[in-house]
Amino acid sequence: MNFDLLIQNGTLVLPWGLAQADIGVSQGCIAAIGKNLGVAKEVFDATNLHILPGIIDPHVHFRDGGKGGIPGVEDLLSGTKGAVLGGVTSVFDMPNTNPAAVDAETLNAKRDYINGHAYCDVGIYVGATTDNADTIGTLETIEAVCAIKVFAGSSTGNLLVASDADIERVMRSGRRRIAFHSEDEYRLQERRKAFSSGDGYENHAIWRDIECAFLGTRRISALARKTNRPAHILHVSTAEELDYLKGFHDIISVEVLLNHLVQSAPDVYERLGAYGVMNPPIRDARHVAAAWAAIADGTIDTIGSDHAPHARANKEKPWPDCAAGLTGVQTLLPMMLEQVHQGKLSLLRLADLMSAGPARIYGAVNKGRIAAGYDADVSIVDLNHIETISNEQMGSQCGWTPFDGITVTGWPVATIVRGNIVMREGEVFGPIGKPIHFNS
Ligand code: DOR
Repeated sequence: MNFDLLIQNGTLVLPWGLAQADIGVSQGCIAAIGKNLGVAKEVFDATNLHILPGIIDPHVHFRDGGKGGIPGVEDLLSGTKGAVLGGVTSVFDMPNTNPAAVDAETLNAKRDYINGHAYCDVGIYVGATTDNADTIGTLETIEAVCAIKVFAGSSTGNLLVASDADIERVMRSGRRRIAFHSEDEYRLQERRKAFSSGDGYENHAIWRDIECAFLGTRRISALARKTNRPAHILHVSTAEELDYLKGFHDIISVEVLLNHLVQSAPDVYERLGAYGVMNPPIRDARHVAAAWAAIADGTIDTIGSDHAPHARANKEKPWPDCAAGLTGVQTLLPMMLEQVHQGKLSLLRLADLMSAGPARIYGAVNKGRIAAGYDADVSIVDLNHIETISNEQMGSQCGWTPFDGITVTGWPVATIVRGNIVMREGEVFGPIGKPIHFNS
């Protein structure tokens, strides 16, 4: 056969195991998998490299509502540039942008803006508000919408649906799985009074304590069962929630963040100060151990970065005035490859959590696996490449990473989106990103 692109001599990470085989790409799709497939206009020699199914980061805040983002912080172009530099082929962008993605007009504009402004493919969340709660079901079926997002606890921006009654209204509108930031708003507000400006950064995890997260997750779980509406609990951060959620696989799926797997208190606050502050907070080693156990036993469905860029000036303030959120889309895969190198998980489980998992949970069509007929999205990695992460490498306009100075073994060397090489050896090409189609 005659292909547009042949990826040869690599080790494929297929859903059923590793295989020495080539991929033939035609018209953006995987046309064939095997040996001696034929000829192609372009050949990518992947000798000594592993070919992962395209990595999906299902949790990014690119700050761009379709009107250009925040200068010096992020927009869709710089956010997706970081993504492809880090081996990510698809991102799902959160709705706390300006304008907020909470109505049909903004969602349609945000989707149309993807063409010409993204290096990778993009899905968009619709944000729930107390105003759109009863009609949001009509918004979740708009093309490119990956899910409804509910901020049940407040974070950056003013999207908030805090009460059981209002959350239930959202859950009774529409039918797709809903993604939740589940920290309990009432407990957050109550506990906030006990702290003062200038208290140490480690107080972030004391204020937003275990019970804030666990109470929120218990409330969402009860409402999911009551309304029979599937939920996805984002950034689960406590051992207590992970244990509890084992009994809810029928209706609730689970995300953890890289940061909650590789950083812990008090170390992160002592070393990084405000650059360790995010919501929900990074907690002590007991919770990190529980997250790894939940990766091993299958409790966790997806891993995200929660890429949340902020200007240095807004980060470098005393707690709790400092902005909460950490960049991460570019470092997600390299840091996870380092965990593979350390023997914490297999490459197959990584592909399950970072590609197949998000595609399955959100219903992303033709994404999430290397298989004939699927989009030719692959992340090509060198498992032996040793590299030190630095602020200077970042595609994000804000120019910092909490992993500056960390050395990893395992590195993305090429990113291919629908057969287009969008990153090779740190050089970026495009932007060719498109809106993602979801089953709805
Ligand atoms: O730390 C966070 N930052 N958590 C969130 O939920 C939102 C995010 C942001 O947008 O800055």
